[in-house]
Amino acid sequence: MSKFQQLPFIAPSLLSADFACLGEEVEAIQDAGANLIHLDVMDNHYVPNLTVGPLVCKAIVSYAKVPIDVHLMVNPVDSLIVDFAKAGANIITIHPEATFHLDRSLSIAKDHGCQTGIVLNPASTIEHLRWVMNKINVILIMSVNPGFGGQVFIENCLKKISLVRKLIDEHCERGGNPIRLEVDGGIKVKNIREVYEAGADTFVIGSGIFNHRDNSSSISYKKIMNQIKKELK
Ligand code: DX5
Ligand code: ZN
Repeated sequence: MSKFQQLPFIAPSLLSADFACLGEEVEAIQDAGANLIHLDVMDNHYVPNLTVGPLVCKAIVSYAKVPIDVHLMVNPVDSLIVDFAKAGANIITIHPEATFHLDRSLSIAKDHGCQTGIVLNPASTIEHLRWVMNKINVILIMSVNPGFGGQVFIENCLKKISLVRKLIDEHCERGGNPIRLEVDGGIKVKNIREVYEAGADTFVIGSGIFNHRDNSSSISYKKIMNQIKKELK
């Protein structure tokens, strides 16, 4: 059975989770209704922070009932695409600026059985998408500059979300493959509705979820996840 559920998707970013008990965090966030598990991979080269490698992806696979969405912020990227696919990633997204040969990098992810997509930084041009639309399952729009959790949402990105939504709809009307529109950075209960209305269907949320842990019993994120989902009705 497919691990993919129905849109819209909430993709909690483990970047703000408690790394001392990542397995429990993954279970708790799934119990609260997560549709994807977003894993931010940073290399202290393409972005100014250092996070996790394929070992950590492999370690959470046995806990993950929903797809693992690996966001690669690394350069070079190709060999790590293979390593993360082997470590159990279900979706791999790539920044066009982090590879010399974007089409090849996307093919590597596909050939290793992953869904794949392109990530656009706040100042990246949407022209990157033009010749690869038929190859991708998702477009991830960054609404902060990549590298850190807890940053402020860049309002200008709403325009880009609407533009890309139009591109995707036109692509689908011409008989093209379905493509999800994911947004990452600075999303909270207070602004998710406007991101949704601009055209996004998948929402990466780190601090907006993990900083709201309900400590009354065991780890629980049900309260905050319900508030988030209510905004998408
Ligand atoms: C930033 C990462 C995000 C980050 C989002 O480079 O790609 O996934 O975890 O965190 P918040 O939701 O706190 O902005
Ligand atoms: Zn991310």
